[in-house]
Formats: sequence, structure tokens, C-alpha cells
Amino acid sequence: MPKDFERMEDSNRSANLSIHDISDPARRVLLLGSLGALTVGALAPWLASRAAAGGASPRIGFKSVAVSEKDTVIVPEGYEAVAFAAWGEPVGVQGNMPAFRWDASNSAADQTVQMGMHHDGIHYFPFEGSSTRGLLVMNHEYTDDGLLFPDGKKNWTAEKVLKAQAAHGVAVIEVAFSEGRWQVVRPSKYARRYTTRTPFAIGGPAAGHALMKTTADPDGRTVLGTLNNCGAGLTPWGTYLSGEENWAFYFDGPTTRDADQARWGLLRNGLSRWGAHDPRFDAKRHPNEFHRFGWVVEIDPYDPSSVPVKRTALGRGAHEGAWIATTRDGRAVVYSGQDARFEYIHKFVSRDRIAPGGAKANATLLDHGTLYVARFDADRTGRWMQLVQGQGPLTADNGFADQGTVLIKSRQASDRLGATKMDRPEWIAIDQDACTVYCTLTNNSRRGSPNRPDVDAANPRAHNNMGHIIQWTEDSDFDSTTFRWKHLVLAGNPANERPAARGNIRGDMFACPDGLTLDARGVLWIQTDISSDEKHRGEMQGFGNNQMLACDPATGEVRRFLTGPVGCEITGIALTPDGRTMFVNIQHPGEPLSPNTDGSDVPNLHSDPAHPRRYSNWPDFNADGRPRSATVAIRKVDGGTIGT
Ligand code: FEO
Ligand code: CA
Ligand code: CA
Repeated sequence: MPKDFERMEDSNRSANLSIHDISDPARRVLLLGSLGALTVGALAPWLASRAAAGGASPRIGFKSVAVSEKDTVIVPEGYEAVAFAAWGEPVGVQGNMPAFRWDASNSAADQTVQMGMHHDGIHYFPFEGSSTRGLLVMNHEYTDDGLLFPDGKKNWTAEKVLKAQAAHGVAVIEVAFSEGRWQVVRPSKYARRYTTRTPFAIGGPAAGHALMKTTADPDGRTVLGTLNNCGAGLTPWGTYLSGEENWAFYFDGPTTRDADQARWGLLRNGLSRWGAHDPRFDAKRHPNEFHRFGWVVEIDPYDPSSVPVKRTALGRGAHEGAWIATTRDGRAVVYSGQDARFEYIHKFVSRDRIAPGGAKANATLLDHGTLYVARFDADRTGRWMQLVQGQGPLTADNGFADQGTVLIKSRQASDRLGATKMDRPEWIAIDQDACTVYCTLTNNSRRGSPNRPDVDAANPRAHNNMGHIIQWTEDSDFDSTTFRWKHLVLAGNPANERPAARGNIRGDMFACPDGLTLDARGVLWIQTDISSDEKHRGEMQGFGNNQMLACDPATGEVRRFLTGPVGCEITGIALTPDGRTMFVNIQHPGEPLSPNTDGSDVPNLHSDPAHPRRYSNWPDFNADGRPRSATVAIRKVDGGTIGT
């Protein structure tokens, strides 16, 4: 979701002044050695290890594709990409499979059993290790209401709110590779949707907290729905983790916000307009509902009867997603960034070891442990600081009466600890063998501007509209409280006039890195999210449509693997256990390429319903249709391993 603009998140006015020195972005610091033993593979065989996959041969074997402005998905010679599971297709609930209507006239009830909009994070859950049959679980981040309804945002009704809420959330579909292509299996006993109205249990220290109690839920233990689900992680015990990211902007706030509401970016008029028909999203009437979003949620795809859970021990945030490593003694370490300007990177270390026995045996593992926030120091070392009530400044006198409050107000707690304000942390990729973590910092045009934090060692460029990727290696194991860090790459077009916008990419150029995954062969896949309204303007010229690239972290070489259709973002990636199918999500094809006309610099996230095909008609190219987010299944024509 693009959001480097006025009305969205930039609410960190904390006084935890940067302690970092301005540094030379080109400086490279070598990391010392590699650490870590593999436990993930033993617990979940489909999470292949690099060690198991070998990889002495060159990691990137394909010929790169050129930048593109075509309304199609382009992959390298020898590969094919086939779209399926588009927004509006029935997920496959027995007896309830309404077909997509090309004029967007499906009802809210239809939408609750159809694929949601704006596909994002995705994972493949095999049946008994199979690379040809399993479940795909994916996030539906937000909606383009100009495409969701025949008449867009006009004539706003309760039914429209219900449909928009049903188009958000998570989908579980059964998929199979048969007759030469991936298809959705319908019906399937696994097929289901999680929407903004599905009951979620609340787990961890904030469950039952006074700040989580509402009129509808006086116990503070059950929330209706998940919201703005962005990136996705996979646990070694076979469950799916999804980050609630830009949930704050769905709520209508008071004219005068209190300090907490301001710190979390509550708007006076939420962007969703849901509050007009669903009082939960009117924070003036139900202020605590605002606290019940912003969590990492855990879903057990293999058990349709299981209750999804919001894991409060991981802290509240604008969670891009959540990604897991394991310590040598088998505890889970969950990394997550808050994707907003000048926000933080966290990790959570579980108290207990991962138990054999899958999801049921680990049903409360993520409810007990320690949450940390990162400080990146100018000497290329870093420190994880505990967010624990009663420790340091996190006292009752400072407004943190209990651990639930620390977690609900994780930003304020992190401000107190002097955590490093980052350039919008997005996806995280983990090299389990090397005890190394990579994180995309997509951009931050406000860095170094008046009344905003200056550049620092970890975020070294003023007006950082290009973004960068940072990496760190934990000092002894994933639960270490110290680490060493460096930049993997600073993005940018080498032809830019402004030196700071040029970057230092070794290979094909890109900007605004967002999605990130390290595959079993050690290839780091980078997906981009240049805001549609910024494309073709100023320094953003030359990048073409959003794209996906492969990077060999050992050499820094970057090669472009895929370009998407017009107006899309490339986000979400999953591989089958044999590495021969890659699923990639194409989000919001056709997003308006023009700036808004209302005089603000809010991007046009909503299409003109009178001209739904103005920018794109991917993937269907139906003369009476509209562009749709969809999954593409990528395979080598010769059936080989992706990336070779
Ligand atoms: Fe949903 Fe930060 O992207
Ligand atoms: Ca993004
Ligand atoms: Ca993203």
C-alpha cells in the first residue's frame, strides 16, 4: 500500500533524539562470521534450509527482463506466469460459490465467500509435503472502492460498508497443479474467508485489559475482524501470521485527539467512511475499538474450525507482517517492523520452546515472551531494548501501569527507550543459518526535512524517496540483545541528478523495496511499491511498472525477474517445497496514475467508477470488466527450480 503522503502516518514526534552520527552511506562494514544452527527445517520440513538446498552453483541463472510500462506480467525467457484466484472469484465454500459479476454488482454476502481485494502477503501450505496440492493463504489488504462498487463511493450505505469489510481480511483456498496449471479446488472443506467481521480471540498480556474492553465485548477478549492485513509469515508449527498495518486510518476520531490517539495517527475523518454505518469505527463513540487493531494475527489454515488469535505479546503497531526465526534451543523469535515514517523495528522472543505436535501444541507459544525494540548505533552495532513494564522508564509513573499498557502503547514505550526511528520498515527476511535478518526500508520523503528527524547512520539519506535494505547479524543467537548491521543496498536510479537518490545497486535498478523473501537457495527476492501517482514524475522516472528482482546477498548482484501490469504493486511471495512454483501477488492493477484532484497530495487510491479500465484491465481483459488483483503462478517451462 503506497502511503508516503500528507494525511497518512507520520505521527512520531517523540523526543528520543537520534544519537547517531551522519555517516557515509557508501561505507561498508564487513560482518564477522556466520552463526546459528538450523532448527526450523526439522520442525517444518517445507521450510527448506539453504544448507539442505546446497547452492554452490551461481544463485541467479535467468536473463533479466527490461523495465516495462505494459499492462501485463513479464517474466524471463523460459518462464511462464499464469494469473488465477483473482478478486471476486468464489473461494470454494460448498453450496455457496457466487460467480464474480463484471460490473461489480456482487452483494456483501457474495463477497464474504469470494476472494477479497488487494492481494498481499501469501503462503503455500502443502498437503503432506506436496508441491502440487495444498492451501494458499493470503491477505487482502485494502479496497479500491471505485472498482468494488458500480458507482464507487457515491450513495454510501451500510451494505457498501459490509461489502468493503468483506473484501478485506484473509482468504484460504485449496489449490492443485493439474492439467498443466494451478487451479482453485472448488468446493473444498478448507475454503474460507476471514473478514473485518470474523471473531478473533485476543491472546497474550493485553487480553481482558481495560483498554481492550468495549460495549460489545465487555470482557475485552474477542474482536470482530482483522484489518489492513499486509505481509505474511509462516511459523515452524504450520500456522500463518498476518500483520495489521494501516488500520488506524479506518477510524473517525474526535476534533481534538488525546496524546495517545495522536501518537497512533487517528484521523478526524477516517479514509474508509465505515464509521458512518458501523459505530465500531467511530472512535468518538467507541474509543477502545481503536486499541483492538494493530496486532499480529495467527491463523491455522489446516483447521477450518480453529479460532484465529490476535497475539498481543508481539506488541501493537502498524505491523507490516511478522517473520520467525528459531534460537538454537528451539524458541521462536518473531521480527516485525512498523511501516510508518520514523517508526520502529521489533522482535519478540518466546519464553518457551516450540513443541513438536504442530499448531495445537503451540497454541499459546506466542502469548508468553519478551518484546524488544531496535536501536541502530553509528558504529554499526545495535541493541535490542526490552519493552517490559517496570523496567527502565516503563513505569506506572510514566503511564505504563502494566504489561498490557506497554504492549497497547508500544510506540510510546519505544519512544521512551530511545529506539531508532526508521524509514518505514516493511518486509523482513531471515537467514536462519547465518543468524542474519534483512529488512526493507521502503522510503521516507520526510527524512531530514524541517521539524523531522535528521539522517542517521541506519537511515542515511535525506528525502529518502528511493528506500534501502538494511541487514543485521545477531551477536550469538536470535535471542541476542546485541547485533552488527550494515546496508545491503541503497535503491535509486543511477541517472538521477541528486546524488542521494542514485543509490548503489549492483545490477538492475529499482526503488521503494517492500516485499522481501529469502528462498531456500539463498536468493533474496525484492518486490517494489512505487506509489502510482508518483511514477513517471521527477526522480521516480525510469523505473516503469512495479517489479520483482532477485539479489544474491553474497555478491550484491541484483537482476530483474518480473514486471507487473500498469498501476500495480508487486507484493507477497510463496514457493512450493520443491522450489518449482512461485506464487506472487499482483495488487491493485489499474490504480490511478494521476495525482488527486482535490489539491491534497493524497494519492488516488480509488478508481473512477465511470472508467474502471482507464489504466489497466489486467488480468482478464474483459471488455466489460475491470482490473483485479490476482495471484500469478510462475513456473519454468522446463519444470526446473525458480531462479536458476
Ligand atoms: Fe502494506 Fe507497508 O505495505
Ligand atoms: Ca509499501
Ligand atoms: Ca508492503
